[in-house]
Amino acid sequence: MQLKKFLSSDLKLGIMAGGQLGKMLIQEASKWDIKTYVLDPDEHCPAGGIASVYVKGSFKDFNDVYNFGKQVDLLTYEIESINIAALHKLKQEGLEIIPDPSVLEMIQDKGLQKEFYRDNGIPAASFRLYNSKNDILDAIVVNEIQFPFIQKLRKGGYDGRGVAVINDEYDIKSLLEGASVVEQKVEIEKEIAVIAARNEKGDIRCFPTVEMVFDSSANLVEKLVCPSGIPEDLSDKAKNIAAKVIDKLNMSGVLAIEFFIDKQGSILVNEMAPRPHNSGHHTIESVMTSQFEQHLRAILNLPLGSTMLKMPSVMVNLLGEKGYEGPVRYQGLDETLAIEGVNVHLYGKKITRPYRKMGHVTIIAKSADDAAAKAGIVKNTIKVKSWKENS
Ligand SMILES: Nc1ncnc2c1ncn2[C@@H]1O[C@H](COP(=O)(O)OP(=O)(O)O)[C@@H](O)[C@H]1O
Ligand SMILES: [Mg+2]
Repeated sequence: MQLKKFLSSDLKLGIMAGGQLGKMLIQEASKWDIKTYVLDPDEHCPAGGIASVYVKGSFKDFNDVYNFGKQVDLLTYEIESINIAALHKLKQEGLEIIPDPSVLEMIQDKGLQKEFYRDNGIPAASFRLYNSKNDILDAIVVNEIQFPFIQKLRKGGYDGRGVAVINDEYDIKSLLEGASVVEQKVEIEKEIAVIAARNEKGDIRCFPTVEMVFDSSANLVEKLVCPSGIPEDLSDKAKNIAAKVIDKLNMSGVLAIEFFIDKQGSILVNEMAPRPHNSGHHTIESVMTSQFEQHLRAILNLPLGSTMLKMPSVMVNLLGEKGYEGPVRYQGLDETLAIEGVNVHLYGKKITRPYRKMGHVTIIAKSADDAAAKAGIVKNTIKVKSWKENS
């Protein structure tokens, strides 16, 4: 049914929410003349200005999500913290929601996610579930939990929030309150990611493996390198696991999977997200089909596009500079744009804050090393500041 509407340019695609991923999804949808509806509480959100229709409301609120769903033909999302009860009701009433709400519901809970990996033979760090901080303290006393370990709140965490690294008893003060996963601390050599896509017919394609390099002070991806530079057999292993996971989930759309490679060279799934993902920003310029177009192809049950790498790339986030908060002012854009292979994406957020994701730059070059060298220059040239300096 949605395909017919797509072919006649009548399709109304609903997207929750209106962040940068929503904006980039709309940029691709507009190539195919799809009408896009966006739900977001902030009328100045990145996607608000380019959606065909912006709807003010919270993706966490039952009525807002339900009423939004009633206006569209097909509903998808670029964020995970959506009101699930509203999605279930909309689905019951016949709305197509892709990926399926049941997949989102499982992924919203890191405990259920870990159980899914365990039950399906997907390699991941071993874990236990606890209902509260007190239960974790009790388990430490009886030696059921040993240091070092990682505590993750089952729900609501993102960008490192909701994750506590407990190396020894002195870190116990950092334990978080709430139902949690406690998992073994992995000796991480590298963090990599693979984005898989699947359509309803069951076709699956995986994007090239990327390496994620983290900025430890911001707990955000500092740069993304593609191809990842890990041995090809490891990269193939990651892609095979990604394909197995998306198949077991029986889902349509794109699914981003983050992995650890440990010091022994073993590969472990860390977590997944059933939506376009920041680890796929570079696909816009460096891969035959971007993750956003792939998501549209997948949710419309169209043939999936080629995931062949056109050119190596490095992606760097443009984060708000420390010490600046207020209306944004970009510095060094002109010098940056003079560099060959530089692609600047500004999300359109009006206010900058320290470490806020304000944009990204993808540099494509003949080799990943060349791209990385240019990325270093870009990082030192573009600064996201404000007129006002706070300290
Ligand atoms: N079991 C683990 N062992 C070691 N480091 C971990 C482990 N789990 C998470 N981390 C570190 O914490 C970061 C954030 O954890 P993650 O589960 O990805 O949460 P988020 O939802 O905040 O991205 C990871 O990217 C990784 O660097
Ligand atoms: Mg993560």
